[in-house]
Amino acid sequence: MLFRGWGDATDGPWPDVATVVDHVGVGHLVVTRHALVRQVLADPATFRPDNALDAVTPIPVAALRVLAGHRFRLPPTLANNSGASHPEIRGIVADALHPDRVAAQRPWLTGLVRERVARLRAALDAGVPVDLYAGLAADLPLLVLARLVELPDAPVGAVKEFARAALELFWAPLDEHRQRALAAEVGRFHRVLRAFAATGGGLAARLRAAGHSPDVVVGALFFLLVAGQETTSQFLTLLLHRLAGEPEVRAGLRDGSVSVADVVEEGLRLEPPIVTWRRVAAVDTTLGGTAVPAGTSVVLWLARAGRDPAVVPQPAAFAPGQRGSRRHLAFGAGAHRCVGAQLARLEAAVVVAEAAPLLDGVRVVRPPWCPDNLTFRMPDAFVVAPEERRRA
Ligand code: HEM
Repeated sequence: MLFRGWGDATDGPWPDVATVVDHVGVGHLVVTRHALVRQVLADPATFRPDNALDAVTPIPVAALRVLAGHRFRLPPTLANNSGASHPEIRGIVADALHPDRVAAQRPWLTGLVRERVARLRAALDAGVPVDLYAGLAADLPLLVLARLVELPDAPVGAVKEFARAALELFWAPLDEHRQRALAAEVGRFHRVLRAFAATGGGLAARLRAAGHSPDVVVGALFFLLVAGQETTSQFLTLLLHRLAGEPEVRAGLRDGSVSVADVVEEGLRLEPPIVTWRRVAAVDTTLGGTAVPAGTSVVLWLARAGRDPAVVPQPAAFAPGQRGSRRHLAFGAGAHRCVGAQLARLEAAVVVAEAAPLLDGVRVVRPPWCPDNLTFRMPDAFVVAPEERRRA
């Protein structure tokens, strides 16, 4: 389960907590129940976030040298920061993503998505298969983020490659050769971030003005560029794929009996792009009756918590608006709860409203393929083609 925490694995029988040994022999306490996952997230003194960005495959000296060559450093800033600086750094990032600023993006975003949907529709009408990941979802969140947060002037493709390399380097089972290649990719972009952190405006300038070191500014930008866009493009792709197999939900969207917001929440519950998130036990403690020694890596199975029958009556069904649907933990909870939740929801709502009709009259040619990863789904493509009768 550890590296494929979605699909079939999410529905099989599991104890409330279970020790699972990973590919390098490290044991992790996997937490499968909604109430226990919440309990851990709500108690940062007992379960600290310090290990959130630790590499699950230890980085070998050769790859560390590559990173050091780029002067790569990642001090605790946001997700892995249990220190006193966290609330202030989080506050500055949250200001940049203030709900009013996010809501103001809706008209622009709707226009952009409409343009893309029209192009995709024209291709389908001409009988040409389209990739809804590449053609719609992949760069959309980055384009929105760039309107909210001043970012280095780097090509979209370079940011995407860096972000995906980072997700692989820190959360995938890897061999040394691959780690070296990923370290080079991540290190190269880290240099770009470091240069920008020293002189950039907006969020970078506000962090500097608040007295945070250049490393902290880089760390915040690093995490935002990974968490703030890659996760959402993964979610948009997974949600569209799920909707392709839910004709009744699409019919409900068409006739107004199903709301877009409910579809987004049910999507987050059943298709979270982040399937697990980690904490580390700070002291000897117990969880669900199991002893947890200090230092234990605790893997919170967010995808499974969303399907807990104690929370939703139909755990595996895509039933927008069902009782408990919104109680998913896709955005975490507590002091580190996702600051971008509002933004991710807006993006998903616009995409569902504008793009779901594209899924009528198509067949799936290539479902998203997701590589082994402890935490992120990372779909690579989602190709649909017109159904036969549409082409006739
Ligand atoms: C569907 C998309 C997204 C999902 C599923 C998601 C999920 C998560 C999760 C599970 C966490 C850890 C929460 C915890 O430890 O309790 C998190 C943290 C975070 N996310 Fe998101 N996220 C998404 C989109 C975004 C976006 C769009 C942004 C910003 C533009 C963002 C920025 C952050 C930041 C800054 C944190 C760290 C917060 C802190 O430690 O205080 N995320 N996210």
